[in-house]
Amino acid sequence: MAHLPILRYPDPRLHTVAKPVQAVDARIRALIADMLATMYDAQGIGLAATQVDVHLRLIVIDVSEERNQPLVLINPVIAWASPERVRGDEGCLSVPGIYDGVERSTAVKVTALDGEGQSRTIEAEGLLAVCVQHEMDHLMGKVFVEYLSPLKRNRIKTKLLKQLKEERA
Ligand code: NI
Repeated sequence: MAHLPILRYPDPRLHTVAKPVQAVDARIRALIADMLATMYDAQGIGLAATQVDVHLRLIVIDVSEERNQPLVLINPVIAWASPERVRGDEGCLSVPGIYDGVERSTAVKVTALDGEGQSRTIEAEGLLAVCVQHEMDHLMGKVFVEYLSPLKRNRIKTKLLKQLKEERA
C-alpha cells in the first residue's frame, strides 16, 4: 500500500469532473487500498479519488470511532435525498485547517458498487450522509469552500497559498 499525495485547494485539478469506473479490476482494488491507507493516515473520514488526482468516480469513507468500518463507493448515484436539510461545519483533507458551515440533506439513499464490484444501496443519515454528499461533490469537481461566500473563499485561498509557499521555502 502506498500513501498518495493529496491535492490541496486551490489546485485546479480539484475541479476535474471524474469519469465512471469501467471495471472493478486489480488496478481499482489497488487504488482503493492506497486511498484507504491515505485517508486513515491523514485522519480523515472520507477521500475522493479526485483528491489524489485520479479522476474516477470512487470514494472511500470511514465515519466509525474505531476507524475499522471502511466503506467503498464506486460510481455512486444519489437515488434520494431528504428535503430536510441541516447546516454543519465541514472540513476537508484538501483544505487543511479550515472548517465552515455547509447545508446538506440530513439523509440520502445512494446506489453504488462496492469494492468487490457488487451493486448495493446505502441509506445514510447524520455524519455519514454529510460525508457521502461532500465526497460526491469532489467527483463533480466541487470543493466545500465553493458553498461559502466569495469573500470567505478568497480569504481561504490566500491563506492556503501562503501556507504552501511557507512550506516550500
Ligand atoms: Ni473533501
